Amino acid sequence: VLRMLMFAGIISLLRSIKVSQSRIVNASEGDSVTLECSYNINSSNSATIGWYKWYRHLVNGEQISNTTGNFKGRVSITNSSEFLEKSSASIVLHNVLISDTGIYICEVNISELSGHGNGTFLYVKGETIAFYAFLFLFK
Ligand SMILES: *[C@@H]1O[C@H](CO)[C@@H](O)[C@H](O)[C@H]1NC(C)=O
Ligand SMILES: *[C@@H]1O[C@H](CO)[C@@H](O)[C@H](O)[C@H]1NC(C)=O
Ligand SMILES: *[C@@H]1O[C@H](CO)[C@@H](O)[C@H](O)[C@H]1NC(C)=O
Ligand SMILES: *[C@@H]1O[C@H](CO)[C@@H](O)[C@H](O)[C@H]1NC(C)=O
Ligand SMILES: *[C@@H]1O[C@H](CO)[C@@H](O)[C@H](O)[C@H]1NC(C)=O
Ligand SMILES: *[C@@H]1O[C@H](CO)[C@@H](O)[C@H](O)[C@H]1NC(C)=O
Repeated sequence: VLRMLMFAGIISLLRSIKVSQSRIVNASEGDSVTLECSYNINSSNSATIGWYKWYRHLVNGEQISNTTGNFKGRVSITNSSEFLEKSSASIVLHNVLISDTGIYICEVNISELSGHGNGTFLYVKGETIAFYAFLFLFK
């Protein structure tokens, strides 16, 4: 049994996935922002099937979807050829709100391998109304 476990361990070391994403993205309210994510696998067979997901806050938490939830109608995803051939799992969030500020995690499952990145912190700052008010005050 131990030998079998060691064998399984070696196989999983030989076939691995690494998911990389930007650490910080700064944006202003109303912007369209790209959350970059890419993966690296060193399996010998080329990938033909897989999927990717983005979560807010934590893995398996709120999923970023264009059809339901907070991001309804505000999400663009890469097409399957970009995903399979260019290893891109990036998404674009449109018309971002201050309340979108937070951590976004990219998860990729491809060729029977699965992994997630360390998260992107999206910081959405508001309009500069407060700043202009301040200037006006001191004119
Ligand atoms: C995958 O990467 C590991 C560690 O970098 C390496 O030891 C292994 O040989 C690679 N496997 C393939 C199939 O390229
Ligand atoms: C994610 O964080 C871990 C631990 O800090 C680090 O070892 C790993 O390289 C990071 N991954 C990426 C893709 O930056
Ligand atoms: C984002 O903004 C913070 C503070 O405003 C700044 O320190 C950081 O360098 C910026 N990061 C990027 C990637 O623009
Ligand atoms: C996301 O939803 C919007 C509004 O319903 C729609 O116009 C857009 O085509 C959708 N995008 C995707 C990638 O499905
Ligand atoms: C996928 O998207 C890229 C970049 O937007 C585009 O060049 C390519 O033609 C698209 N491929 C398909 C199959 O739609
Ligand atoms: C990858 O996705 C497939 C299909 O959704 C699932 O059956 C499989 O368990 C996933 N693999 C991993 C390692 O999570």
